[in-house]
Amino acid sequence: MKRDLISVMDIADEIHELLDLAARLKRERGAHERPLEGKTLAMIFEKSSTRTRVSFELAMTELGGHAMFLGAQDMQLGRGETVADTAKVLSRYVHGIMYRARSNQMMRELAANATVPVISGLDDLEHPCQALADLLTVKERKGGLQGLKMVYMGDGNNVCNSLMLAAGAAGMEMAACTPEGRMPDAAIGEKAAALAGRNGGSISFCHDPREAALGADVLYTDVWVSMGDDTDSVMARSIFAPYSIDEGMLALAAEDAIVLHCLPAHRGEEISAAVMDGAQSAVFDQAENRLHAQKAVLHRLLR
Ligand code: CP
Ligand code: NVA
Repeated sequence: MKRDLISVMDIADEIHELLDLAARLKRERGAHERPLEGKTLAMIFEKSSTRTRVSFELAMTELGGHAMFLGAQDMQLGRGETVADTAKVLSRYVHGIMYRARSNQMMRELAANATVPVISGLDDLEHPCQALADLLTVKERKGGLQGLKMVYMGDGNNVCNSLMLAAGAAGMEMAACTPEGRMPDAAIGEKAAALAGRNGGSISFCHDPREAALGADVLYTDVWVSMGDDTDSVMARSIFAPYSIDEGMLALAAEDAIVLHCLPAHRGEEISAAVMDGAQSAVFDQAENRLHAQKAVLHRLLR
């Protein structure tokens, strides 16, 4: 039976095992086993990417396999071939498919029609591999996860949705602090809260950034306008400005708080340059950890 990773829900029960495996593969980089010898991952991109593309390709190489970049615009998919037919055809060639999709619906359609594992490299609803790298980074910096207070500031988007599920699975205390009209997905919020309840954590929603930041162990933000979102940038600035992680907001958090951002970042918007490039920022560790976290996922799903 093939296994997909489309939502953090798909790995919620084994998040600690995956984080341990990722940490080991990181420690043993250059010397670990190469279990994907002879395996090929097709990587379909319908949206731009730097980290996801490079880290997945490198992860396959370092595990002994091979990755193939497929820009959707260069494929027949970009000229109207269905995502279902694309899935069926690719399944005859490769051992796994990584997909950065325009929509969660297309992601699900690809997965339903593929006979090989499908791994999400982001869609409009979730970004599960990002969330795994995020927890790996917090665990490295803080020594654990359970009971830590993490506050996500800004747009309740795909990154926020997956982070809530991962935080719930790890028993963290997470608050999603967003403007009222930009809250995360309600159904995912409920699933995350249920996971958190089972694991000794909590998920909450709020709108006052200064209050939310008080005593936080982790402050997290992402762009105000995601790929495919047609919100006007001037409008976004006026809605989201109070949620910007700047020096004043960081001063409200715990003294040893860390700051995360999935990147790409817009300095001076969701995060100030001083915070992004400051001593409490862990954003480049976080970017590196995409590689290690995805190696753990590929190890589990493709071997
Ligand atoms: N964080 C992230 O997914 O980055 P890319 O869009 O560069 O892949
Ligand atoms: N929320 C952002 C994440 C980019 C990695 C987007 O979807 O564009």
